[in-house]
Amino acid sequence: MLNFDFQNPTRVLFGAGQIASLATLVPANARVLMLYGGGSIKTNGVHAEVTQALAGHTVIEFAGIEPNPSYETLTRAIELVKREKIDFLLAVGGGSVIDGTKFVAAAARYEGDAWDLIAKRIAIEDPLHFGTVLTLPATGSEMNAGGVVTRKATHEKRSFHNRRLFPQFSVLDPTKTFTLPARQIGNGVVDAFVHIVEQYLTYPVGAKVQDRFAEGLLLTLIEEGPKTLADPQDYDSRANMMWCATMALNGLIGAGVPSDWATHMVGHELTALYGLDHAQTLAVVLPGMLRVRKDAKRAKLLQYAARVWNLTEGDEDARIEAAIARTAQFFEQMGVPTTLTGYGLTADAIEPVIKALEEHRMTKLGEHRDVTLEVSRQALSLCV
Ligand code: NZQ
Ligand code: ZN
Repeated sequence: MLNFDFQNPTRVLFGAGQIASLATLVPANARVLMLYGGGSIKTNGVHAEVTQALAGHTVIEFAGIEPNPSYETLTRAIELVKREKIDFLLAVGGGSVIDGTKFVAAAARYEGDAWDLIAKRIAIEDPLHFGTVLTLPATGSEMNAGGVVTRKATHEKRSFHNRRLFPQFSVLDPTKTFTLPARQIGNGVVDAFVHIVEQYLTYPVGAKVQDRFAEGLLLTLIEEGPKTLADPQDYDSRANMMWCATMALNGLIGAGVPSDWATHMVGHELTALYGLDHAQTLAVVLPGMLRVRKDAKRAKLLQYAARVWNLTEGDEDARIEAAIARTAQFFEQMGVPTTLTGYGLTADAIEPVIKALEEHRMTKLGEHRDVTLEVSRQALSLCV
């Protein structure tokens, strides 16, 4: 096992009815800014429930954070925070609203151009405190310290990470996910699945605890994903999926093991250039990435084949290929196409992605830093 330094300070309040706890979770004398997306929380009752819980607080609202939150929109939120002397943020929504809120928190007391916090990796010294109410299980943002923001003007989708950006608390009520469209449930299961794979399917370092946690989460997603798609109101299924997605990217399974993230980095360019949902890009890229890199990942691919898909017969290459094919079938079963064609794109889409990766210095990705532009090109050529 590799050495690690693990701390996760986010308090999690999980279960039906937990939104009421906001009354005591949010600091009593704070000037609160509640940030949300395009309005789903208004139609499904979450907005009303949060407002009721915060009846004794001073709350201002900022609506309109879009999927793949944009720097342009968030800049307006930062101005509002400064103007209104806000001292606590509450994100109510999915990964985009939470990531956007992290960016606002980071920039609130920074006087320069907020984009520099990402582009120039300026240290985030004194972010505002914030909490979240999660409505879409997928990204893990509710219990991690990272985020992804898109600058629309330049088609750049960039990530940031800072240990001061963990939420103070996150409220996870599975009943608030019942209104999610099937597409977002499919996306959530695929995103969580790929988060686990990017931390598990690398090379063995004798980290049995992390491996078996990861396998347990993968098996749970395979078991519960189709069930929760078929019956959105099955509380237990939704609860398991929700907790899986959080555990997939809260640092626990990634501590003490190598991590990959090449699929994510290539995927970000597909979103920035062609507007695919985040999870859709992962479903396209992952199978090709695994096929192209199967020699470097051989030992873990065989472990994955055996323990997750129960594939123990036949020669090694056949088992590996079957495991990758089963992975792609699972994504398709969740309603997420796994080819560029599935999103109306052709092989012509590949070269602009490679050019963007080069511009963003994504030329040595993966656990061995050996995913060059040529490897990314080969992986994408298998995804058409
Ligand atoms: O905007 P509203 O109206 O709220 O609608 C949203 C949005 O259109 C809707 N939605 C959310 N909860 C709902 C609901 N609709 C009905 N009922 C509900 N309960 O779902 C749509 C998608 O929401 P979004 O937040 O964009 O989805 P997701 O949670 O998948 O977040 C994706 C973003 O997170 C980033 C992605 O790159 C992408 O920008 N990621 C963040 C990570 C992190 N912070 O650690 C890691 C991930 O790898 C990922 O990159
Ligand atoms: Zn992801």
